Amino acid sequence: MAHLLVTGGAGFIGSNFVHHVVAHTDHTVTVLDKLTYAGNEASLAGLPEDRVDLVVGDIADAELVDGLFEKADAVVHYAAESHNDNSLHDPRPFLDTNIIGTYTLLEAARRHDTRLHHISTDEVYGDLELDDPARFTEHTPYNPSSPYSSTKAGSDLLVRAWVRSFGVRATISNCSNNYGPYQHVEKFIPRQITNVLRGIRPKLYGKGENVRDWIHADDHSSAVLTILDKGEIGETYLIGADGEKDNKTVVELILQLMGHSPDAYDHVTDRAGHDLRYAIDSTKLRTELGWSPTYRDFEAGLAATIDWYRANEAWWAPAKDGVEAFYASKGQ
Ligand SMILES: NC(=O)c1ccc[n+]([C@@H]2O[C@H](COP(=O)([O-])OP(=O)(O)OC[C@H]3O[C@@H](n4cnc5c(N)ncnc54)[C@H](O)[C@@H]3O)[C@@H](O)[C@H]2O)c1
Repeated sequence: MAHLLVTGGAGFIGSNFVHHVVAHTDHTVTVLDKLTYAGNEASLAGLPEDRVDLVVGDIADAELVDGLFEKADAVVHYAAESHNDNSLHDPRPFLDTNIIGTYTLLEAARRHDTRLHHISTDEVYGDLELDDPARFTEHTPYNPSSPYSSTKAGSDLLVRAWVRSFGVRATISNCSNNYGPYQHVEKFIPRQITNVLRGIRPKLYGKGENVRDWIHADDHSSAVLTILDKGEIGETYLIGADGEKDNKTVVELILQLMGHSPDAYDHVTDRAGHDLRYAIDSTKLRTELGWSPTYRDFEAGLAATIDWYRANEAWWAPAKDGVEAFYASKGQ
C-alpha cells in the first residue's frame, strides 16, 4: 500500500484516476486541486473518506506543496490549465500553472527525493497531415501549436532537465485525447452530448476533418498505474488506444446513438491554428511494460459516456449556460 499525492485530481482525467486507484489498488490518495472552473469536488463524491482526501490549493504554492510531499510515497501530476480555446483567449494562467506549477512540484520532488509521474499530452508534437500514415512516437520532435500545448511542452522539458541535472525520479507520459465521465462540458464530446440533451444542435468546427486518437479515461488511468509501477526513471511513454476518428464521424455517431438524424448539426467557424491530426504509436508502453487498453470499441465507450451524462445532469448543468455563452460570443 502506498500514499499517492494526485494534483488536479478533481479535474476530468485526475478524478477518473482517483476512482480507478480506489477500485483497483489499496493505495490512499490526497488530491491537491485549486478547484478552478475546471475542478469539481462532486467528481470525487462517493469515494471512501478513509482513502481519499481533498486539499484545496495551488500547485505553485511551494510551502503547501512541501508539506504534502513529505507524506507522499509518489506524486502523479495532472493539474494543468487544459483547454486550447481558453489558451488562445488568455494564455497567462497556462504559464502560471503548467510551467511555474510544474517547476514548484519538481523542486519539492528534488528536496524530498519523491517519485513523480508527470502527465502530458500528444499535442506537444504538433499535428500530422491528414493523409500522412505516420504516428507520434517517443522520438517525434516537439512542435507545439497553441499556448496550451507549448506550456505543456515546456513542462515536459523541465521534468527531463530535473531528472538529468538533479537526479529527480520522474517519468513522463503523453496521452492522446481522452473521453469518458466527469469531462467538463466545454470539451468537444461532452459539449455535443449535452447540446443534444438540451435540444441544441451540435456544433462542428470547420469541415470536421480534424482527426483525434480517442482513448477512454479509464484506460489512461491503468496506463499511468502501470508506468508508476514498472516505468523506468527518466523515460517517456506514449499512451494511446488506436482510436483515430475525425470530428465529423464523432458528432454523427453521438447523434445516431442518441436517436437523432446523423446530419442534425451545424458547422461553425474553425478554431485558430486547429491541429489537423494526432495519432499515437504506444508500442513502447505495450511491449516494454505490458499494458493494453480495455475499451477497444469506441462506439460502446461513447454510448456508456452518453449514458453517464444523461444520468448526471446535476453534475454538468451548472457549467453549461456559461460555456455556451462563451462559444456564442465567438460565433462557435
Ligand atoms: N483531456 C485530454 O484529452 C488530455 C489528453 C492528454 C493529456 N491530458 C493532460 O491531463 C491532465 C489533466 O487534463 P484534464 O483534461 O483532466 O484537465 P481538467 O481541466 O479537466 O482538470 C485540470 C484540474 O487541474 C486543476 N488545477 C488547475 N490549475 C491548478 C493549480 N494551479 N493548482 C492545483 N490544481 C489546479 C483544476 O482545478 C482541475 O481540477 C493535464 O495535464 C492535461 O494536459 C489531457
